[in-house]
Amino acid sequence: MANLWYKNAIVYCVDVEKFMDSDGDGVGDFAGLAHRLDHLERLGVTCIWLTPFYPTPNRDNGYDVTDYYNVDPRHGTLGDFVEFMHAAEDRGMRVMIDLVVNHTSIDHPWFQAARSRADSPYRDWYVWSKKKPANISDGVVFPGVQKSIWSYDRKARAWYLHRFYRHQADLNVKNPAVREEILKIMGFWLALGVSGFRIDAVPFLIEPKDPESELNPDPYALLSDMHDFMAWRRAGAVMLAEANIAYDVAGQYFDAGDRMSMIFDFVLNQYLFLALARRSAEPLRRALKDRPLPTGMGQWATFLRNHDEVDLARLSRQEREECYASFGPRPDMQLYGRGLRRRLAGMLDGDQARLKLAFSLLFAMPGTPVIWFGDEIGMGENLSLPERHAVRTPMQWGDERNGGFSSAPADKLVNPVHPSGRFGYREVNVAEQVRRPDSLMHVVAAMISTRRSTPEIGWGDVQLIDVGNDDLLVVSYLWRSNRVITVHNFTDGKVPFPLKVDGVRRFVPLLTSSEGLDPFAADQPIGLGPFGYCWLRCEGERR
Ligand code: NOJ
Repeated sequence: MANLWYKNAIVYCVDVEKFMDSDGDGVGDFAGLAHRLDHLERLGVTCIWLTPFYPTPNRDNGYDVTDYYNVDPRHGTLGDFVEFMHAAEDRGMRVMIDLVVNHTSIDHPWFQAARSRADSPYRDWYVWSKKKPANISDGVVFPGVQKSIWSYDRKARAWYLHRFYRHQADLNVKNPAVREEILKIMGFWLALGVSGFRIDAVPFLIEPKDPESELNPDPYALLSDMHDFMAWRRAGAVMLAEANIAYDVAGQYFDAGDRMSMIFDFVLNQYLFLALARRSAEPLRRALKDRPLPTGMGQWATFLRNHDEVDLARLSRQEREECYASFGPRPDMQLYGRGLRRRLAGMLDGDQARLKLAFSLLFAMPGTPVIWFGDEIGMGENLSLPERHAVRTPMQWGDERNGGFSSAPADKLVNPVHPSGRFGYREVNVAEQVRRPDSLMHVVAAMISTRRSTPEIGWGDVQLIDVGNDDLLVVSYLWRSNRVITVHNFTDGKVPFPLKVDGVRRFVPLLTSSEGLDPFAADQPIGLGPFGYCWLRCEGERR
């Protein structure tokens, strides 16, 4: 039987720089992360996704790489990386790393060589135009901050393409040498034991880069090549796409899992926030209905928040306004005219009932759940930091200085720790939540444990059950003759409902927002309290 480990994985995203500083220089490192694996083990995490840790001038949180074959010295050495890999493996956790090959930093020696000499072998590794391209401000990814997607380089006497910030020059992936190098980078990290890659900016990676030259006949071939290479080098490794795409093109990205093993479901994420804002399950049900079923080895990845803004661009203007009104009414909470730069707990105002509902939904959505570090304890955002840095403050381990993240003077920290107030590190931290059995952290750990023993959710056939009521989302998952049903109440009221499933005699609760729910007969009416949820195993069905 195929061991598609990722279908029942719990992925936890760590930014090494912000997680744990072991040597007191104010920057997180691999030794610190290895030391804190207890926390991930206690949560039940099975796979760690590391955001970029490569050498970088760090103008985009590490997504501006200057050397793909190394660790930034601020985080340690390649030796420390291998030690960390060993420690993770010891705890049964896999590691996935960010692969950022749509662009490099302009400080990368390749770009420096490319701009210096027209006859440099690296010249054609980037995308140039001798003439000023038309409409250079069309298609900027960070409106309001980024001005254009082409910039003039005086040394090269030409314009270079950068879909993101001007310090991130796009690689020319049509060039076979660049494609070779991408595979070589993958091979390097696979040899060091990683279980796969979160591939950055996939839609930009495969788009035709140069509008003036012949179009790339099969842009997706690059993804197939990457997947083939990876599968040859390491069986069971996966590619997870960062691709904020419409559902109708997802099939081409998946190609039944022969290209992307997983794709982050950005569409579902936006409708989830709309559902939470409206206190109605309808938007989420709508998205789930529209969502194509990944075929073959494909799988959706679900998330609540990540290290970027909540991108609401796929909602209508009115729907987006509803989300803003509920979760980020102030202009400084919004970003790029399309999203919110807040953490989950901030948006839900620290309301424990709604936070638990959101996490229960994360683990109950068909797909593989991905958690952004710190959300499991309800960390908040720091809006005094620029752009997306608001959600990238260091992990809050305890109530000691710097929240236990670092022993460096506060002004040396890579980002300030969340200082004070309801979300400050003295109030919200791991140590306090470890001691308190009803803490969000313990609730999330219990949910993870249940999710891991409920493979029906990651593997099963999914059916939406209509109970004639938009207050509730009722989902059934059927796998190997076992059926599980999850029910979520989006409202702040008590909602009674009948749950009739043909042939089911008894429901056995696996997880509930209320305590002590015993197994109950199928004809017994049930109800959920405000923002309540329950996961039920069905008994008695004959198939
Ligand atoms: C997507 C990453 O998630 C984001 O943080 C980054 O700024 C862009 N890609 C550019 O690499």
